[in-house]
Amino acid sequence: MRLDKYLADMNLGSRKEVKGLIKKGWVTVNGEVIKSDKFQVKEIEDQVFLDGEEVVYQKDFYYLLNKPAGVISATVDDYEETVLDLFDDESYREDLFPVGRLDKDTEGLLVITNDGALAHRLLSPKRHVEKEYYAEVSGILTEKDQERFAEGLTIDGGEECLPATLSITAVDEASESCSIHLILHEGKFHQVKRMVQAVGKEVTYLKRIRMGGLQLDESLAYGEYRSLTPEEVQLLEKRA
Ligand code: URA
Repeated sequence: MRLDKYLADMNLGSRKEVKGLIKKGWVTVNGEVIKSDKFQVKEIEDQVFLDGEEVVYQKDFYYLLNKPAGVISATVDDYEETVLDLFDDESYREDLFPVGRLDKDTEGLLVITNDGALAHRLLSPKRHVEKEYYAEVSGILTEKDQERFAEGLTIDGGEECLPATLSITAVDEASESCSIHLILHEGKFHQVKRMVQAVGKEVTYLKRIRMGGLQLDESLAYGEYRSLTPEEVQLLEKRA
């Protein structure tokens, strides 16, 4: 890879800016000052220093964001705040994107990455990667509803859902509401809300708590994010 691309990929400035740094003699490769931006670097083997600080190459970036309500699952938008607007200048990169979508009013686990291949695998309908949601519902879901979810529900517009696991975790008779956990193996538009609607109730609060083997880190406040550990990246691809 060209030396200027290497430095720009590591977020050390635009291509033009890093070319300037190289010309000034601020960059060494394996101990030698290199003044040509076309110089070819081996990402893994070579030791690159900028102004005396080592620049270790990283190709893929993975973050776990605890999405707050009120921001949209997009990269840029002229009017609305996006999940990438929550990133600080040090972590922000133009190639980051959210893996799938959560509705504007949905909270919780959202993976942000620049790894298109991983995103593709996670979202592929063939792979059925599990997604688990916590929801608060107006109306009381019943055992009969659980059976219907388990059999595979038909939602509005005639779309058929794969069997889903519904657990009713709390019931409040007085306010006629309940809390649920729902495990899905696919990701249709507004799926949780539409499934609950199909049995005559309404989601009033929704949060994603798991994707594959990756759990939401509850120590992250809403709007906070952190890098995934290599173990967590592997867990992501696990179904259960
Ligand atoms: N299902 C929904 O209805 N909304 C989401 O944001 C995610 C799943």
